[in-house]
Amino acid sequence: MTDIEQIQQAVLQIMVIVKDQLRTNLNFNHVEKKSSRTDLVTERDKQIEKQIIAFLSDRFPKAYFVSEEGYGDCLTDLSGLVFFVDPIDGTLNFVKSHDQFASMIGVYHDGQPIFGAIADIMQDQIFYGGPELGAYVNQQPLAPLINQELSAGLITVSSRLLMEQLNNYRSIINHSSGLRIFGSAGIIFTRLFQNKEVVYISNLKPWDLAAGLAIGKAMGLQAINIDGAPINMLKSQTVIIGTKCATIETKDLLS
Ligand code: IPD
Ligand code: CA
Ligand code: CA
Ligand code: CA
Repeated sequence: MTDIEQIQQAVLQIMVIVKDQLRTNLNFNHVEKKSSRTDLVTERDKQIEKQIIAFLSDRFPKAYFVSEEGYGDCLTDLSGLVFFVDPIDGTLNFVKSHDQFASMIGVYHDGQPIFGAIADIMQDQIFYGGPELGAYVNQQPLAPLINQELSAGLITVSSRLLMEQLNNYRSIINHSSGLRIFGSAGIIFTRLFQNKEVVYISNLKPWDLAAGLAIGKAMGLQAINIDGAPINMLKSQTVIIGTKCATIETKDLLS
């Protein structure tokens, strides 16, 4: 079995375990505020992050982990095998509405995306794939991405960017078919994969991006840093992700 097959098998195995655990018990047990009253972490975020890291480090002892809730490593470069872990993406949705949240694992080797998995918990779907493997949902190949223009589709801008810089995004929203807001980067990636959205703009951390970028690379999804720099998987940044046409159009409208 090649390394990528071992990685795929292990990541999908733990994703299924986590998805089924969350589906059978949606209690968050204990909730704490992080930077603000809407930036939350629950006992479940911490427990799942520890569980994913324990499972994968047992199978890949030389691997490093970049994860949201503090149980991973502090990395200054991306040499070797790196797993990016977001145990619950959309914690606020999980706590408030028990809907539209995901669990995500992105795998990079020497800084390049090789595999990603996004579990849409409430839809009981796991999206996964990578540049060498193609892109799938629950074992079925995903339909190809349609290179839709901005005017042909829905767009998503994070609520924080909209509140802080609405004027910058007004013309992009007006050029699109309409704006939708979801509160989970992972769920939005799955919508982009299914041609349900054409562009996503948000300020995201490495664990928000890694799985979606790996699957997206297999599908021909574009992802650019809003300031023109390459995407840096060691820091947070504002990104435009979408179809080739709509991403270029969005970037042009912003400059
Ligand atoms: C958040 C969600 C949200 C995005 C935030 C992320 P979390 O992840 O993906 O949609 O706008 O930037 O931090 O904290 O719920 O894992
Ligand atoms: Ca969080
Ligand atoms: Ca997240
Ligand atoms: Ca999270």
